[in-house]
Amino acid sequence: MNGIVVYYSKYGATRTYAEWLSQEIGIPAVEYKTVKLDGLDPYNFIVFGSPLYLGRIVLAKTIKKHWHRFKSKRLVLFTVGSTRDPIQIDAVVKRYFTPAQLNAMPHFYMLGRSEIGRLNPLDGFLTKTAAAFTKDPEEKRMLKEGFDGMRRENLSRLVGHIKTLTAK
Ligand SMILES: Cc1cc2nc3c(=O)[nH]c(=O)nc-3n(C[C@H](O)[C@H](O)[C@H](O)COP(=O)(O)O)c2cc1C
Repeated sequence: MNGIVVYYSKYGATRTYAEWLSQEIGIPAVEYKTVKLDGLDPYNFIVFGSPLYLGRIVLAKTIKKHWHRFKSKRLVLFTVGSTRDPIQIDAVVKRYFTPAQLNAMPHFYMLGRSEIGRLNPLDGFLTKTAAAFTKDPEEKRMLKEGFDGMRRENLSRLVGHIKTLTAK
């Protein structure tokens, strides 16, 4: 299968997952900003990788806007964030995509990373504010102190899914 990983990443966590995935399944990973949409036409399999920021899936709007281009391809979406609650993630994803879209583009979520010292001042402020409103004590701590949830094995379900697709 002629595939590609297209990702957006602000601080590098989604990039790292995209690169690990690229190594695991042997397809290239490219940053969304460097891609021309026409350039994706030859690929029949696309993995989108996007972080969550302020309750948004950064790449979701683009994917939806150009759905007509992508819908004939095999698609997978992975998202990266700090949320530990799968129900919350599910709700975010369902806000963007219809059940039919999610059927055509299964979604996988993975814990990312936040290094407080590397955040720009606005992101630092927003993270502190989010911590103040977060009820889950562990997530509150993660937001305040930063966290590193990056594990290569977090990719295992996603890799398993892709391997079943490419075996077909
Ligand atoms: C300002 C800000 C807002 C964030 N909002 C969310 C959010 O709504 N949901 C979530 O799960 N994670 C959120 N995060 C955590 C990031 O998604 C996480 O750190 C991720 O690893 C960032 O990916 P990147 O390094 O590829 O940019 C937020 C982080 C920052 C700095």
